[in-house]
Amino acid sequence: AIVPVILAGGQGTRLWPKSRSARPKQFIDLVGETSLFQQSLERVKDAGRYGAPIVITNAEYRFLVAEQAQERGIALGAILLEPVARNTAAAIAAAALVAVSQDENAVIHVLASDHLIPASAEYFGAVDNAALAARDGHLVTFGITPDRPETGYGYIAIGEALRHGAHKVGAFVEKPNLEKAEAMLAQGGFAWNSGMFMLPAKLFLAECERLAPEVYAAARGAVAGAKSDLDFIRLDEAAFAASPNISVDYAIFERTDKATVLPVSFEWSDLGAWDAVWKGQSRDAAGNAVTGPAMISNSTNSLVVTETAHVVVDGLDDVAVIATEDAVFVGRLSQAQNVGAIAKSLKADA
Ligand code: GDD
Ligand code: MG
Repeated sequence: AIVPVILAGGQGTRLWPKSRSARPKQFIDLVGETSLFQQSLERVKDAGRYGAPIVITNAEYRFLVAEQAQERGIALGAILLEPVARNTAAAIAAAALVAVSQDENAVIHVLASDHLIPASAEYFGAVDNAALAARDGHLVTFGITPDRPETGYGYIAIGEALRHGAHKVGAFVEKPNLEKAEAMLAQGGFAWNSGMFMLPAKLFLAECERLAPEVYAAARGAVAGAKSDLDFIRLDEAAFAASPNISVDYAIFERTDKATVLPVSFEWSDLGAWDAVWKGQSRDAAGNAVTGPAMISNSTNSLVVTETAHVVVDGLDDVAVIATEDAVFVGRLSQAQNVGAIAKSLKADA
């Protein structure tokens, strides 16, 4: 069985003020009746395909993880707690070490918890192909067909075809600037990195040790010194804190020659910022999307999200109005990427 590894330690600052440091985006009901974290759990619950999931998150979110899994009736294999945030390379390495300690030949499916992916036959077909390609000894990425020069994603040049629909990775470019992104889109033959991976855990760890030895050493020390606490496994703080703060994309995927890409065409979006939430929602004829007690008139291409306050928007275009109990954001929807920097600069509970 494939071992799911769910990354649930991100801060989600670009979705302020709905996403807060005490309750980041993956744990709130952003789209639909359940949180994106719960939707990620639902995607890995088929026992014919998957073993029990390993969730890795910040120690601060341990009760959110435990409660939200229980609410959906999903039993977790392990909840690993990071004492400090060190980004995805160290988190995946720690989870891979735990998976290998249980099964030397484990294949792990690393999932982000901020993606909107409708469960479809196409999606699960891709998962199964990726697992076969991983068994062939590859670090498998899922390649999404790009439709705009997005600079918030990684780009993968699709190389020579291998078995099971996988291809060699010609090059992996994490978060290019706009000029580079436009050039890759114009050239063709590139896919977006979905942020999901299918990895033979042992191979991943060997590459991590070779390409990012400080990350590997930190994860090893953190798992070796880990302490059980109720249902949680607390990684050793001193060891884990010594890891560089680096994402798996920069630490491993830009450098390894073991990566392959599986081009896929299932529906996928990274709900990174408010413009993506707007795109992922049903909109009226004028392009407006509204959640909560709001009214919008004489306006186009706008998003209003409000919890309890009545919000009225009149005569505005391209605006995002996000109202929570104690904070309101108003800005241009097309500039939604700015919100992360703004939220980080706010001292109070951003
Ligand atoms: N456990 C843990 N610890 N999880 C983390 C941490 C951490 O320190 N930091 C981030 N995560 C989780 C987030 O919650 C999210 O589910 C996932 O890891 C990915 O992190 P993001 O911060 O959302 O990455 P990104 O969106 O900027 O970039 C990645 O995803 C893109 C597609 O969505 C990259 O893999 C890109 O190449 C890719 O295109
Ligand atoms: Mg993301």
